[in-house]
Amino acid sequence: MPGILAISSSPRRGGNSELALRSFCRAAEEKEIPVEMIRLHELNLQPCHACDRCAKSGICAIQDQMQTLYKKVIAATALVLATPIYFGSLSAQLKLFIDRFQCWWQAKYRLKTPFVSPEEGKAGFIICTGALQKPEYGDNIAAIGKVFFHNLNYKSGGILCLQGFDQKGAINDDPVALIAAYNAGVEFIDSFIL
Ligand SMILES: Cc1cc2nc3c(=O)[nH]c(=O)nc-3n(C[C@H](O)[C@H](O)[C@H](O)COP(=O)(O)O)c2cc1C
Repeated sequence: MPGILAISSSPRRGGNSELALRSFCRAAEEKEIPVEMIRLHELNLQPCHACDRCAKSGICAIQDQMQTLYKKVIAATALVLATPIYFGSLSAQLKLFIDRFQCWWQAKYRLKTPFVSPEEGKAGFIICTGALQKPEYGDNIAAIGKVFFHNLNYKSGGILCLQGFDQKGAINDDPVALIAAYNAGVEFIDSFIL
């Protein structure tokens, strides 16, 4: 799918980060850019075993649904990650997903055969939502996203951190936040996809 792969990492289906992700992706759909949304929490995914088998092959040895996700990531032009802020960091689901790209790190740095080359111009973006209005709670997520996209040879479009939303779906009562997510999508698409 040459388009956007949208990764929702909250355990809450229809939670705040997922609603913000949907608003972001609406900007793509309006330009007829295909979007596929994946909910990590609904998949059977194991954390990285650090077995190092990928050091020789660049391929992850764990046979779970991550194998399908690798193919989807390769096929997509852009990767948009959404997470709730948990203790000033990512959801466990998103951390697990990121760690499973250790095989891509091995492929790039040890085997010198990256899955994605910088010339392909692929790009990534992160959206996070949190309960408290503390800008610093987004800092760790921004830093992890930067490292992740750099290791994948993706350009980083940055992060949108929307705060002040705790109850599931609370962000729906704040059109300004959802418009901010939509506008971030417009800017990302203009800068990295069109
Ligand atoms: C385990 C846990 C840890 C949390 N830690 C934080 C936190 O450090 N800072 C914050 O602002 N909100 C925190 N929250 C609140 C969520 O980030 C907030 O409800 C967010 O909007 C949830 O997004 P979701 O609906 O997409 O899951 C935490 C919630 C949970 C369940």
